[in-house]
Amino acid sequence: MIKSDAPILVTGAAGQLGKTFVRMLGDQAIGCDRAEFDLSSPDSILAAVRRYRPQIVINCGAYTAVDKAETEPELCETINAAAVAAFAQACEEQDAVLVQISTDYVFGAQPEVPTPWQESDATAPQGQYAKSKLHGEQAAAAAPKHLIVRTCGLYGGGPNHVSFVEKMLQLGEQRTHLRVVDDQRCTPSLVDDVAAAVLQLLESDSRGLFHVVNDGETTWNEFAQEIFRIVGYEVQVDPISTAEFNAPAPRPSYSVLDTAKFQTLGKGPLPHWKDALSRYLTTLRPILAEGLQTS
Ligand SMILES: NC(=O)c1ccc[n+]([C@@H]2O[C@H](COP(=O)([O-])OP(=O)(O)OC[C@H]3O[C@@H](n4cnc5c(N)ncnc54)[C@H](OP(=O)(O)O)[C@@H]3O)[C@@H](O)[C@H]2O)c1
Repeated sequence: MIKSDAPILVTGAAGQLGKTFVRMLGDQAIGCDRAEFDLSSPDSILAAVRRYRPQIVINCGAYTAVDKAETEPELCETINAAAVAAFAQACEEQDAVLVQISTDYVFGAQPEVPTPWQESDATAPQGQYAKSKLHGEQAAAAAPKHLIVRTCGLYGGGPNHVSFVEKMLQLGEQRTHLRVVDDQRCTPSLVDDVAAAVLQLLESDSRGLFHVVNDGETTWNEFAQEIFRIVGYEVQVDPISTAEFNAPAPRPSYSVLDTAKFQTLGKGPLPHWKDALSRYLTTLRPILAEGLQTS
């Protein structure tokens, strides 16, 4: 249960997911961004948690620059793992619940038969970001009251956050042909749906590790095509392989997450990814009319 008389501290409050929690929680949220405390200085974390005495810490702050992490592994590890260890210690001291947001990237191995990954499946993170996020999960698990939520392909933070969706829209305003990878299967997920699901988990006193993503699965290529179909841009989206795209950090080829454990709450799966995308693009429509580049 979420108590109505104690604050909930949300880190990464300027980020896509953190901002969404702060909006949903209203007055109960204490949204902390980089100006409040720097996650690369874990020492400041205990002081902040002592100051606010939250019932719950939702840690959405993270080093999320997946490719840049390959050249800044120490900073990435500090923010994504050492800071989480500090939160775990602080939450234990305050008897607070620690919610740690993690990622499908912990599943970097190619499965023999692609089947949605369950929480109990063995992880195999590839790349610095993925490894640091798994270390973050392990650090969070040291908190006596913890909830670790793996999600995937977040978008929906609004036009000022350049996720895959905004990137495609910007490119779609300029070009008639794009090449987008078609050999990574996952489930891009809307921050509103993920945040609502995390709050349901907290309301039901769930603890441990959960997968939370929109329903269904797709490739980035198909996702891009659906974006352009919904907004009515005539853009040809040709396939390109992950190898050809040659990003600095490795990406999982198959990271569809099984949400059966979340569904034991009895509320069914989250909406299908096409439904979530359509809802988000509806909110962007007034801005798209002006052109995303200029907003
Ligand atoms: N984005 C995805 O596709 C995805 C997929 C799966 C899981 N996740 C996980 O979901 C969580 C939320 O992701 P998101 O997409 O909302 O990320 P985001 O938009 O990049 O937000 C992350 C926030 O963390 C803050 N931050 C970074 N370094 C910091 C520092 N040293 N001190 C204080 N704050 C710092 C950033 O602040 P600044 O704005 O000041 O840099 C940013 O506001 C993360 O744990 C991420 O690993 C994300």
